[in-house]
Amino acid sequence: MPETWWRGAAIYQVYLRSFADGNGDGVGDLAGLRTRLPYLADLGVNAVWLNPWYPSPMADGGYDVADYRDIEPVFGTLTEAERFIEEAHALGIRVIIDVVPNHSSTASAWFREALAAGPGSPARERFWFRDEPGDWKSIFGGPAWTQLPDGQWYLHLFDPGQPDFNWTNPEVHQEFHDVLRFWFDRGVDGIRIDSAAVLVKDFDGGDPDGYTDLDEVHEIYRGWRRLADEYDERILVGEVWFPDQERFARYLRPDELHTAFNFDFLACPWEPAALRRSIEQTLDTHIPLGAPPTWVLSNHDVARVVTRYGRAETSWDHGNRRDGVPSDLELGHRRARAAALLAMALPGSVYVYQGEELGLPEVDDIPDELREDPMWTRSGHTVPGRDGCRVPLPWSGEEPPFGFGAGEPWLPQPEDWRKLTVEAQTADLGSTLNLYRAALRLRRDRLGDGTLTWLESRPDVLAFTRESGLTCVVNLGADPVRLPPHESVLLASGTLDGEELPSDTAAWLA
Ligand code: NOJ
Repeated sequence: MPETWWRGAAIYQVYLRSFADGNGDGVGDLAGLRTRLPYLADLGVNAVWLNPWYPSPMADGGYDVADYRDIEPVFGTLTEAERFIEEAHALGIRVIIDVVPNHSSTASAWFREALAAGPGSPARERFWFRDEPGDWKSIFGGPAWTQLPDGQWYLHLFDPGQPDFNWTNPEVHQEFHDVLRFWFDRGVDGIRIDSAAVLVKDFDGGDPDGYTDLDEVHEIYRGWRRLADEYDERILVGEVWFPDQERFARYLRPDELHTAFNFDFLACPWEPAALRRSIEQTLDTHIPLGAPPTWVLSNHDVARVVTRYGRAETSWDHGNRRDGVPSDLELGHRRARAAALLAMALPGSVYVYQGEELGLPEVDDIPDELREDPMWTRSGHTVPGRDGCRVPLPWSGEEPPFGFGAGEPWLPQPEDWRKLTVEAQTADLGSTLNLYRAALRLRRDRLGDGTLTWLESRPDVLAFTRESGLTCVVNLGADPVRLPPHESVLLASGTLDGEELPSDTAAWLA
């Protein structure tokens, strides 16, 4: 393994609840994941990132963690998790897990202790308890303070089931250092840090957003980095959502996080000038720091890329999710395939959210009574939320559950996913799955960490060359464009018309 495996890695995001169900209860689990590891090895990814796998009441899909040192029984056991890590490593796949430091669960031992100990107790100092509520709003809608029967209020930036930790308390710092060690000692290669920018709070400044990106948060990650550096090649990946690129880059200073998700690229509309600007800005902020950029098209929080790119408005905005807005899926599909070749060709690491490699669309018609996302309830049933991108994967067969497992999946799969199963797409040379397989294979030797050189092109075309000589050309215009001189076409996201690259199509050239 190269020393810096993570700098150019292709990282596959496993949303465990929806990946593969090994025990037939309708929910994905470690047993299912372990049997599907050969699929991931064959796909050609270098690492997996798993969403939280800890014991949890599932108020927010597991981002409400009751115990940071164990595994949710629905997903399996700690022993199974250890086996999974070993098996993944044996296949050359690194393992990144999710750590949630901003908040816990109301079911955690610490929160229960705080409730029992009562107002004024040291146990309450690990969270934010107050006699009077503040006026901050929850990110999921509604107030961010909830009152207890004893009269006090506690802060939760997300769901009431997710009380925020008080990061001015040294016990909280110590706890998370122990948690990081717990998992690094078990062989985990990296930590994805949930809501990384909101840990520190300023209640006094009167700012309704007095928790985003306060300077003191960086000291926390310097401590984490020192800890990670005691181990061999373990990485910290930040979930840092906010538009200011200069502030974003501060998280990537050499003594802080190794990488962070590039949400600017994800949120960018499918438009040539905007994409070029996003790419250039990303390179300009990362390269001077020596931090590799990351390229993200989707995850478990945003609408599926096929659906997004088929809409009239192709940008992404958390505050305006456009759930249910009509989409031309054929167009979205073409663009999503082109976008995949673009993202995989750019310098740095790339994330693939499960199902992206199958071209799955967003599921807009989940029956309301089955929706689990707290956004749905907290918004007073006005925002359908994120369940539509979390529907269990279709593996094989002609009807649901499409090989996901023996039981009825926790969210229903559309009937027409029969065309999108792993089995169906494996047999189809032109499928999105086979495009991802081919691209990930080429990417291993010729792409990843490094830089790019832009080639001269029409303004509606993005064209650049990588150090290996591979050239990526993406046509975002309405008319076909002639390919630049080349020896051969290595891969294309759609059918070429001789030397012409059609609209919304990408090609990799040698
Ligand atoms: C970001 C996670 O990706 C999202 O799924 C979760 O709801 C929030 N953080 C709160 O933990």
